[in-house]
Amino acid sequence: MDKKKIAKASGGLHGTIDIPGDKSISHRSVMFSALGDTPVHITNFLHAQDCLSTAACMKSLGAEVRFLNEGELMVTGHGLHGLQEPAGIIDAGNSGTTLRLMMGILAPQPFLTTFTGDASLHHRPMGRVIEPLTRMGACIYGRQQNQKLPITVVPSAEKLHGITYQSPVASAQVKSALLLAGMYADGNTTVIEPFRSRDHTEQMLEAFGAEVEREGNSVTIHPVRTFRTPESIHVPGDISSAAYWLVAGSIVPGSSLLLNHVGVNPTRTGILDVLKAMGAKLEIRNRRISGGEEAADIRVESSFLHGVSFGAEIMPRLIDEIPIIAVAALFADGDTVITGAGELRVKETDRLQAIVDQFNQLAPGAAEGVEDCLIIHGGRPLQQAEVFSYDDHRMAMSLAVLGMAGEGAVLRRPECVNISYPQFYETLAGLC
Ligand code: S3P
Repeated sequence: MDKKKIAKASGGLHGTIDIPGDKSISHRSVMFSALGDTPVHITNFLHAQDCLSTAACMKSLGAEVRFLNEGELMVTGHGLHGLQEPAGIIDAGNSGTTLRLMMGILAPQPFLTTFTGDASLHHRPMGRVIEPLTRMGACIYGRQQNQKLPITVVPSAEKLHGITYQSPVASAQVKSALLLAGMYADGNTTVIEPFRSRDHTEQMLEAFGAEVEREGNSVTIHPVRTFRTPESIHVPGDISSAAYWLVAGSIVPGSSLLLNHVGVNPTRTGILDVLKAMGAKLEIRNRRISGGEEAADIRVESSFLHGVSFGAEIMPRLIDEIPIIAVAALFADGDTVITGAGELRVKETDRLQAIVDQFNQLAPGAAEGVEDCLIIHGGRPLQQAEVFSYDDHRMAMSLAVLGMAGEGAVLRRPECVNISYPQFYETLAGLC
């Protein structure tokens, strides 16, 4: 399927949606379980391409990864020092999380690993992880002066050294890679970020018995001797996937949706804060702890939205949601000004440019982008048009919601939703 017709919604959206498992937590659940030595039963795992890349990767390093069902698996490792040299090249597919976190796990190992990935991953900057890992004593080589895939991790002559690293970017992938390498180092490893990024690695490593200290934007890990694997991990729903319905329910008049089992870890809930500031009607119900993470059900009803401004400080808490927040901004009254969004340029595609180019097809003159800044002029007339996903899952889903809430659209290369939300179109059709 090369093109998908997105029909204009004919009335309000109604229904209850079970939000699929969190992508970030699913990756970590398999990786960390594979470093333990007792079986871990993982449920509500995100059965989508990115997380399946991680599962395949851990398998090729010798862990037993057995699917019982879609979304349910048993992972058994051979201990922190039990990974084995893979027989071939490891393919991280489209997944930056797989590649960056795995570099942290593999840098201290006594064997060689070579990584590849898809065309998008070949363009993404890996120096941000390779450079600090090299400071710890790791030997990692990549194309374009150790910046890009293909990448080879070579065993280093000595044990890695603990370092204190002041990261120039607020990135959970950078932070996680260093903390994972730090588990094997000869001393403590500290990562200090400009703003705090998502903390799933810290949370889960603590649950596995690692000694982790956190203070403000700084995290320190102590060298780890053994992992205490839990018997089970239940993955909460992904707020980044719920985001499409939070916005669709807000902007399509007459809608009322209930989103079940959404992860509401405070390092991820920037979209709730921004939508509330825009005037969205959200009700967070039934707050609970699920698999060591905060979760809740969210009711969303359509409402009148107005434009807002936000910047770098909140960015790590909603970085993946900017394309869909920009859709909300299109349907709002007035301008929305988003600054400090430079990281969007190094995601699966240059999302800042992609938003400008594709939104302007459906709402001429509505989107402007300069450097790290995105401006959306709300309330511009909408039209039907053909738009392009750039093979970026979050662009595809945001454009589909835009088309559905607007005048309809034809989406080129729609299949990339399989990266994080394979049931997306089915759920969309069920609501209309
Ligand atoms: C992720 C971190 C974020 C996010 C990505 C998932 C993670 O990337 O955009 O989708 O699971 O750690 P950065 O760390 O590059 O900001």
